[in-house]
Amino acid sequence: MKHDKIERNLGLMLVLTMLAISAGGLVEIVPLFFIKDTVESVKTADGKEMVHPYSPLELRGRDIYIREGCYLCHSQMIRPFRDEALRYGHYSLAAESKYDHPFQWGSKRTGPDLARVGGKYSNDWHVQHLTAPRSMVPESVMPNYPWLIKTPLDTSDIGLRMAALRVTGVPYSKGEAEYQQNVKTFGEDVAKNLRIENAEANLRAQAASGNYDNNPSDVTEMDALVAYLQVLGTMVDFKQFDDDYFVKFR
Ligand code: HEC
Repeated sequence: MKHDKIERNLGLMLVLTMLAISAGGLVEIVPLFFIKDTVESVKTADGKEMVHPYSPLELRGRDIYIREGCYLCHSQMIRPFRDEALRYGHYSLAAESKYDHPFQWGSKRTGPDLARVGGKYSNDWHVQHLTAPRSMVPESVMPNYPWLIKTPLDTSDIGLRMAALRVTGVPYSKGEAEYQQNVKTFGEDVAKNLRIENAEANLRAQAASGNYDNNPSDVTEMDALVAYLQVLGTMVDFKQFDDDYFVKFR
């Protein structure tokens, strides 16, 4: 048998193994060269990018989402199938998670997909639901997270968290030149929130004006998590696109 020959000939086995591995490697690596074309850019009418990095408060919320393991029950990726679009809204675009490190697509849905949950409920609903899910949805199997509303948010390291993401390519800005670049790309309102220098002040300002946990005096972990949930899926304005696929299914 041919296989017998290969297995008895160390040199041949080595060469063929290397060939097999490099073919597999190429299949994984080559698509990465085209990542720029794969991730579409979605722009407003005046040429600004719609998808932007999270504000400092939302970013802290995302970190709490990861800490609490919400991704174990919730996906954030709506697939381009009719039933998914009907239930959750427009299918997810690659651009929508391009600043997510690590991405939160998830692989299990014990609860519903959260990719477009932003704006679906009021802040009060989220606070009540996260504290005691069964008080809102009696048949829910989601755990209670009563500590979120009681735990003050540690805001001291927000600048470091943003700086770490900056290393991975998320355009949080350091210094005037990078800030001006962000003003060009995202517009001034967004760019202000991406400055690492002002991160802690910006975080507190958003918590105060958004009042996510209905307690204006403290910034709690609940403020951050609800701010994050409320921004999910809201960056791209799909009304601006004549997307036959979605319109057909609405
Ligand atoms: C054990 C699995 C589980 C975990 C862990 C979990 N959830 Fe849920 N979640 C569910 C289920 C089931 C539902 C549907 C019933 C309900 O609304 O409570 C749900 C519903 C939700 C909804 C409402 C979605 C909608 O469109 O109606 C939100 C928002 C939510 N979860 C956020 C979170 C967050 C944030 C965390 C982490 C702090 C989390 N969940 C952790 C199972 C889970």
